[in-house]
Amino acid sequence: MTQKSASDRANVFLTVRLPEHALDRIETECNVVTFAGKEMPSKEELIAGIAEADGLLGSAQLSVDADVLNAAPRLRVVSNFGVGYDNVDLAAAAQRGVIVCNTPGVLSDAVADLTMGLVLSLARRLPESERFVREGRWKPGAGMELGTDVSGKTLGIIGLGRIGVAVARRAQAFSMTVVFHDLFREPPAEVGFSKYREMEALLRESDFVSLHVNLRPETHHLLGRAQLALMKPSAFLINTSRGQIVDQSALVEALRKGEVAGAALDVFEEEPLPATDPLMAMTNVILLPHIGSASVETREAMRDLSIDNLLRALRGERPKAVVNPEVLAQE
Ligand code: DGY
Repeated sequence: MTQKSASDRANVFLTVRLPEHALDRIETECNVVTFAGKEMPSKEELIAGIAEADGLLGSAQLSVDADVLNAAPRLRVVSNFGVGYDNVDLAAAAQRGVIVCNTPGVLSDAVADLTMGLVLSLARRLPESERFVREGRWKPGAGMELGTDVSGKTLGIIGLGRIGVAVARRAQAFSMTVVFHDLFREPPAEVGFSKYREMEALLRESDFVSLHVNLRPETHHLLGRAQLALMKPSAFLINTSRGQIVDQSALVEALRKGEVAGAALDVFEEEPLPATDPLMAMTNVILLPHIGSASVETREAMRDLSIDNLLRALRGERPKAVVNPEVLAQE
């Protein structure tokens, strides 16, 4: 086999840092440039870095809009290190014939574990109880306010895809009743115990509402003032999907008015959450820094899948997970 010269090889721009052995996999076939900054590149830095690239591998928070795509005439693939793909302008990618890939499946258990952890944390007041001990408020006779059981309660899952299903299975193990809302009414066989509800009915009935939909124009602010007002005052909201699914200022208002008992949020309309955000000062919310997939094993699996996708696309093979298969059909 003859070695390709550097100019015959595809150019790859990486905006995530990879360990040596993972980088080797790409460097065996491609010329690689890794973004040198410690944080995510700015739009200008991305445009500069991607100018000669055939492939881009970056986080699912990296905005790849039409300006970025148009600044990369050679670009053939955007491989997201993440399952979400709302960061990519899909219409512009399709127009340019750029394949967009993501990492579905490999992070479903991690996100579902976190979701269930948040259900339990809200119900049993875990973060509050921890603060109670650390702040020296635990005195003889002085106890915490009581929490609530999860068994026998109803979990409403909005979006019964891979992650929603993994959450439903966990909730069943905790003896919860599971209802869901999605575009289909028949649940997948493995969660046949879950029951379809119209959105309004789900919001009225659930003790815990958990969001597991993709961010699309139709799901932007899916939960606004009117929807939050339907929830029971004793109910909790959990969001591990995308911040923009919830109208965050409407949620702050609903929490303040006691229309909703509490919320656990791993995602926000603006990330990182600004220090001045009203949520920061609220005690009936749990705030996490977008850690749904943040376990060693899951991040390794995501990394491997995003590299597989990138290399396959650059070789002209079908990637394992393509978001816009219509682009492959065009080829
Ligand atoms: C994902 O995979 O989309 C996670 O939310 C991380 O961005």
